[in-house]
Amino acid sequence: MILINGKETAANIKMEIATEVAAMIDNGKKGPHLAAVLVGDDPASQTYVNGKEKACREVGMTSSIYRLPEETTEKEVLDIVDYLNNDDEIDGFIVQLPLPKHIDENKVIMRIKPEKDVDGFHPVNVGRMVLGLPSYISATPFGIIELIKRYKIETEGKRVVVLGRSNIVGSPIAILLSRKTYPGNATVTLCHSRTKKLKQIARSADILIVAMGQPHFVTEDMVKKDAVVIDVGIHRVPSDQTNSGFKLIGDVDFDRVASKTSYITPVPRGVGPMTIVSLIMNTLKAAKKEIYS
Ligand code: GUN
Repeated sequence: MILINGKETAANIKMEIATEVAAMIDNGKKGPHLAAVLVGDDPASQTYVNGKEKACREVGMTSSIYRLPEETTEKEVLDIVDYLNNDDEIDGFIVQLPLPKHIDENKVIMRIKPEKDVDGFHPVNVGRMVLGLPSYISATPFGIIELIKRYKIETEGKRVVVLGRSNIVGSPIAILLSRKTYPGNATVTLCHSRTKKLKQIARSADILIVAMGQPHFVTEDMVKKDAVVIDVGIHRVPSDQTNSGFKLIGDVDFDRVASKTSYITPVPRGVGPMTIVSLIMNTLKAAKKEIYS
């Protein structure tokens, strides 16, 4: 069994990006600039945005965070989106989700210029991704694709089973792995809460990607011997084995499943660290005008 080390892979990618950013600046070009809009004081969102700011700093990119109070109106958020859309200094930006309930998230996402939508959430980017055109791919599927590439995992002709059909993980990764390229050319089955015989389908997977959002959903009997298992889940649960009294676990029962697999991502230090790095990669692409030239 090979442990897919997302933390180490993310650190390597950050070093590669840092080299490229330094070269851009040495050549007299403007360094990449990412902006983030954070509305309200959701603690998880604050942590994510702080992580994005730290990652920018580590690779020598500029970041700006627009912190707005919970009571900010939808119009005010849309005005900031318009401002960032038109500011040539900003290469790409994100609006951290979830937004407070009185703000229509779809309306905000649709207002972002696709050229600056480094989250890859705008329908134009999603549509381009589905059609195989150059697009920003959202952070989690992009991170999974990068892990598959860097660990040289074969996907052609393989049976991939994706558990979970969310717009930002399950659906895009299912589409990406069925593309006519590498990683891709796989036969993909997308399972969800209404799927019948889910265990049996999971057990047929050469590559099992789990994004159900349920702690330890995948048990030993759902995994074929020598399968590749990618766990997107992350849950904070009480534990008597740690000083904090909590530990992080995934959607896969790692301790029971790992020995059966050929490759597996742990939680933490698996897919998680790859997501911020994916956003940074998209920001570099935005600065280089690689997707929309
Ligand atoms: N909330 C949780 N994950 C994400 C993400 O990748 N992007 C944004 N904008 N909000 C999030």
